[in-house]
Amino acid sequence: MARTDVPSHYLSLAITFLSLLLASLLVLTAACTERNAADRIAAREQSPKGDTNARPGSPESPPYSPAVPPPPPPAEAQVPAPTPEAIAKATAPPAARVPETVNWSGGDPHKGEGIYSMYCAMCHGADGDGKGPGAAALNPKPRDFKSGAFYLDTNANNKTGEDVDLARVIREGPHAFGGSSAMPAWKSTFTEDQVRDLVAYVHQLASTSNKGG
Ligand code: HEC
Repeated sequence: MARTDVPSHYLSLAITFLSLLLASLLVLTAACTERNAADRIAAREQSPKGDTNARPGSPESPPYSPAVPPPPPPAEAQVPAPTPEAIAKATAPPAARVPETVNWSGGDPHKGEGIYSMYCAMCHGADGDGKGPGAAALNPKPRDFKSGAFYLDTNANNKTGEDVDLARVIREGPHAFGGSSAMPAWKSTFTEDQVRDLVAYVHQLASTSNKGG
């Protein structure tokens, strides 16, 4: 009998141990579930847009399924198109990036006319039509000032024909700004006042034709 008592004693011990284990497992599981629920409530209270863990269809669920990310915005909305001014700046040659410190307005066109006929008319023509004797061999042709259309933007502001544009072309030559190398740079020939007078005269040639002359 004593032999059979020993195993049953062990058996009851084992059963007690197992039931204790089971009970503690149950308690643990319950604790975890409660914790999860508490976390969710906390998360829902924190996010003003509602609980992203909410089941689809529940009043707080977002309009799309949380599993599917929202579609990305179209590419053009992310990168705004550059403005013409920004393009002019980005593509400007080094000479056009130098800040201007001189005011090139207010020259005397009468003085300018005298200098023009001596230094410029051979290419640009006596009346500014671009058909001077030196023009035949040139390609591109000298600018026809009477058209009033200037094309060199020498300070990268996307505007041409400003006083500063003409002054810089005269001083540095068109080549410094992507134009012809046929016209020399006159920087060392003329004083600032003479350049100012030339600018005024070139503008006068252009405006005369604009007025129907
Ligand atoms: C050897 C010929 C020659 C002489 C001399 C000459 N130019 Fe020019 N000039 C040109 C040519 C060629 C162009 C056109 C450049 C181009 O199309 O790239 C030009 C362009 C210009 C422009 C164009 C500006 C623009 O935005 O379109 C101005 C201003 C100008 N010249 C002023 C003068 C003045 C002022 C003188 C005299 C001091 C002068 N040039 C002398 C050949 C000449």
